[in-house]
Amino acid sequence: LGHGFHLYERIDSTNRLAMEFLREGAAEGTTILAEQQTGGRGSNGRQWESLPGGLYLSVILRPQLKLADIFQLTLVAAFGVAQSLGRLTGADVRLKWPNDLVIEQGRRLAKVGGILTETRIQGDRLAGAVVGIGINWDNPVPAEAARLKPLSRRDLDLAPVAAAVLLGLEQSYQLWHQRGIERIVSGYERYLVNLGQAVEVPGHDGQGRIIGIDERGALRVLFLDGGEALVMPSELRLGY
Ligand code: BTN
Repeated sequence: LGHGFHLYERIDSTNRLAMEFLREGAAEGTTILAEQQTGGRGSNGRQWESLPGGLYLSVILRPQLKLADIFQLTLVAAFGVAQSLGRLTGADVRLKWPNDLVIEQGRRLAKVGGILTETRIQGDRLAGAVVGIGINWDNPVPAEAARLKPLSRRDLDLAPVAAAVLLGLEQSYQLWHQRGIERIVSGYERYLVNLGQAVEVPGHDGQGRIIGIDERGALRVLFLDGGEALVMPSELRLGY
C-alpha cells in the first residue's frame, strides 16, 4: 500500500478525493495524505475537525468481498491501526466498537482517532473501497478527546506515524487474505474496550453484556436468559 502516493497541504477531504480516484480506476494501495482538511468526514455524517498536526489519510482497496461482508474492511483497518500505533508509541491504544481508536484516561475513554470506510457498489458487487484514517497526533482537539504524541515514548513527527499506520494496515490486510476473518476478529477483540460492558439493545428486554463481535462486525450481546443478539453498527451507538 502507499505506492501511488498523493500528498496535499490542504484539501477538503482525503476520503472524498480517494473516492474520485477510485471511480477513475486508481489502483489498489493508492494513498492520499493531507496535512489539513477543510471538510473532513466523520462517521454518521459528522464532520471530522482536521487542523494541522493530525494524521489524515485515505487508502484505496479493491478486495473481493460480498456486500454483506463490507464491514470487515473497517475491522481489518481498525485492528491494524490500533496495533501499529500501540507498537510505535508504547501507548495503550484500544478500540471502541465499531470504528474508534481510544485510550483510557483514568476512568474515561478519550478518542485519539477514527476510521471511516466508504464503498463504491456496482450492481450487486463491491467495486472498491476507501479506508480513511484520522489520528489526533499533535493537532488541537476538544476536551473529551486526546492527542497521541504527548503519550508517545518517542518524539516523532508525522512522517513515521504515517508510515507505521500504513504498514499496520497493510499487514492486517495481508493477514485477512492469508488467515481469514477469524484471525482479524480475534485480533480486534484483543483491543476492544467494550468487552463485558452492559448494554440495552433495541427490541430486547433487560440488559445484556457485550461478549465480542462476529465476522460481519456485529456486536455480540449475551442476555441473562442465555439468548444472544447480534447488533450491527447502524443499530446501536455506544456512549463514551
Ligand atoms: C470517525 O468519525 O471516527 C471517523 C473519522 C475519519 C476521519 C478520516 S481523516 C482522513 C479521512 N478523510 C476524511 O474526510 N475522513 C477520514
